[in-house]
Amino acid sequence: MTAVRTFFWQGIEVPFRAGESVAAALSGANIHGFGKDNAGSQTRYFCGIGACQCCLVRVDGRTTEACLEPVHAGMIVTALEDGDA
Ligand code: FES
Repeated sequence: MTAVRTFFWQGIEVPFRAGESVAAALSGANIHGFGKDNAGSQTRYFCGIGACQCCLVRVDGRTTEACLEPVHAGMIVTALEDGDA
């Protein structure tokens, strides 16, 4: 039996499967809105290939595309704050 691994989204522990991106893991946990960008638009998992920039989040303090970022145990992921993107 494989132990469940988790990361943190907005301070909440979220499980993930090995090999998932942050966006896939959040979507798998029924988290579909990732915060708001500078224009006030909701960020979310859309293209899945790093082209649309719709999934920007903060990972361990840096802004990145959630669809391209491999998730790992203990990772701290938060929504963008004003001026982050
Ligand atoms: S979903 Fe398009 S860049 Fe991540």
